[in-house]
Amino acid sequence: MLLIALMASALTLATQPPATLSLIPKPVSVTQASGVFVLDERTVIGTDATSRPAAALLSGWLKVTTGRETKLAGKGSISLKVNPSLTKLGNEGYTLEVSPKGVSLSAPKYAGIINGLQTFRQLWPTGHASKLTVPAVKIEDQPTFAWRGMMLDVSRYFMDKDYVLHFLDIMAAHKLNVLHLHLIDDQGWRLEIKKYPKLTEIGGFRGEGTAREGGFYTQADIKEMVAYAAARNITIVPEIELPAHTLSAVAAYPWLACTGKEHKMPTVHFISDDLYCAGKPTTWAFLKDVLEELCALFPSQYIHIGGDEAKYTKWKACTDCQKKKAELGLADEKALQGWMTREVEAILAKKGRRILGWDEILRCGVSPTAGIMPWADPKAAGDAARSGNPVMMALTDHCYFDFPESKLRGELTGAGWRPPVTLQAAYNWNPVPVGLTPVQQKNILGVQGCLWTDMFLHKPEIKKTPGPALYCDYFLLPRAAALAEVAWTPQAQRSFSDFTERMAHQYVRYSDAGWNFRLPLPEVTRNGDTVTATCPIEGGTVRYTTDGTDPTASSPELKGALTVTRFEDFKAITLAPDGKRTSLIFETLTPTNQYKQFGTKLGEWKSGKVGDRKPIPVEFDATGLISGNGTYQITFIYTGGRERLDIDNVEVFRNAESTPLATDTHHGFTGGAKKDNVYTLKISGYETGARFTVRAHIYGDEGSDSNGIVLIKKVG
Ligand code: ACM
Ligand code: ZN
Repeated sequence: MLLIALMASALTLATQPPATLSLIPKPVSVTQASGVFVLDERTVIGTDATSRPAAALLSGWLKVTTGRETKLAGKGSISLKVNPSLTKLGNEGYTLEVSPKGVSLSAPKYAGIINGLQTFRQLWPTGHASKLTVPAVKIEDQPTFAWRGMMLDVSRYFMDKDYVLHFLDIMAAHKLNVLHLHLIDDQGWRLEIKKYPKLTEIGGFRGEGTAREGGFYTQADIKEMVAYAAARNITIVPEIELPAHTLSAVAAYPWLACTGKEHKMPTVHFISDDLYCAGKPTTWAFLKDVLEELCALFPSQYIHIGGDEAKYTKWKACTDCQKKKAELGLADEKALQGWMTREVEAILAKKGRRILGWDEILRCGVSPTAGIMPWADPKAAGDAARSGNPVMMALTDHCYFDFPESKLRGELTGAGWRPPVTLQAAYNWNPVPVGLTPVQQKNILGVQGCLWTDMFLHKPEIKKTPGPALYCDYFLLPRAAALAEVAWTPQAQRSFSDFTERMAHQYVRYSDAGWNFRLPLPEVTRNGDTVTATCPIEGGTVRYTTDGTDPTASSPELKGALTVTRFEDFKAITLAPDGKRTSLIFETLTPTNQYKQFGTKLGEWKSGKVGDRKPIPVEFDATGLISGNGTYQITFIYTGGRERLDIDNVEVFRNAESTPLATDTHHGFTGGAKKDNVYTLKISGYETGARFTVRAHIYGDEGSDSNGIVLIKKVG
């Protein structure tokens, strides 16, 4: 009896089509019709030969969702058909028609079949059921941009093949079609090159003893990843950095750099100035060999050659580089990098490939065929497009998903040298710079999100189990959905509020897939002493407290309007329908905003963690808070404990350097009374991407029971 009731309820669930379609990215044209298509044990997938890999994918999804095999045949009630005459749909468009009689998916190319399948899958009810009810609809759709990319930095933190395949699944679900693999950097060489085995033997690992870590992809792994991606309409574009970000290669083969000096693999993040020597013939023999093996593995039209952040100190002191510069009549080292870029472009052009590089290559002198990927310099986008160069937009403030989504308490942080990249920042921008002619606008090929992992080297919480992969999912979702819509949906059809409404359903899809994602906070509205809140995920609830304590999954549910006497004590979280996943906390009164006149919170000190009558060094991560050269004030505010805090000295360090960039040595204290508790530090060695640490020598005057917060403010 109970079983029958359960089955009946499962059936009811399965036969409920979604209230709204909530498609992400939003298709160009959707016309809803009446009726539903019921996908059940009688359903057969009809496929032509070209669509067969797509049909196999569909059948795999259905196995997971219905628990049942779905047959593939030449004809079926779900029909997948490539029809080359549908040219108006471009390279990746499709038409999808769902009616009570069947499902018809047509596209001019295989890419469109894949894109249409992803849309079809989003029409299914969420959850698992043996019978799926799909609403009748007619969709005609194609992407705005051809380049819809994500970069994954597997160099700074090695993700194994299985994680890359999982990453490809997430990308495919969002119709993203380029995986840019950052395979090489100072901190790791991840690609097996048969002719140079030390690249991975030495360059693929770092650290000693139990701290040793690393890995690389064998050529067989790469072939598997490339094929897996291709079946999902994703091209893997490899990045082979040059001339900088190559210490892993130099550690393996010191003759690649100017000095020939031996290096250990770095275990901290920094950008080495040991570039590939531009003047030695051995560098060129090496690059040709590596590019030969690389091109045999990756069929992509573009090969990313890096080109960012080259510091020319070693080139300036190298007789070979200087000789080459003079021989070529070049003005400076930038021009030498430009020459190197064009030489590499020529090598690759012979193999029918094109180059793509970070925005710096534009300023070094490039041919108009080189792709430009603006990251730090938004002006490079317009300049490149005007020069006729293809442009792939990866601007830091919209596309760097290793930046946190917020400054909230508990937020997972990666890089921090720019403001957080909120979901809104990832969504609300137009990749086409203003002022371009229609012809120049066509040079904007698309957009790309970037997931760097350089900060993983310094964040033990990211390295611990369940491993970096889960953190990458969290950084990626939901911002990849915003990116997907920027890339796919015409600008005039995009709206952030409409997107967030559709995301309510998308989060349930993420849960079903078992992906880790950042669940947004409830949307809280205050009207006098009345508070209401909207839950951002379908089927979820808002949980709250009014006594200033942090809410949990078992806190009371906020339904309708709530009267609160002290809004400062009201806190709320989103609780997912699974009853487990929660958001960060909505709260108003925090020490951070209570003391905001002293700047942004740098950190806190806790009872027992400061010196007992004698100063001890305590460190605070100031990356992102030190945001340029200038004068900074660091203020210590006591908040509780038996002891006041005494401060002897405050220093600022860059990266792992042992000499401080700035120091303020004076005695101050903060407690019931305070004196000289503000420290002033003048920074003149700021570097993009560098880490900054504030070290304070602090102690309780009669013990170590002291608590408080440290704030930082740029004052000049
Ligand atoms: C970069 O973030 N250095 C491209
Ligand atoms: Zn040199």
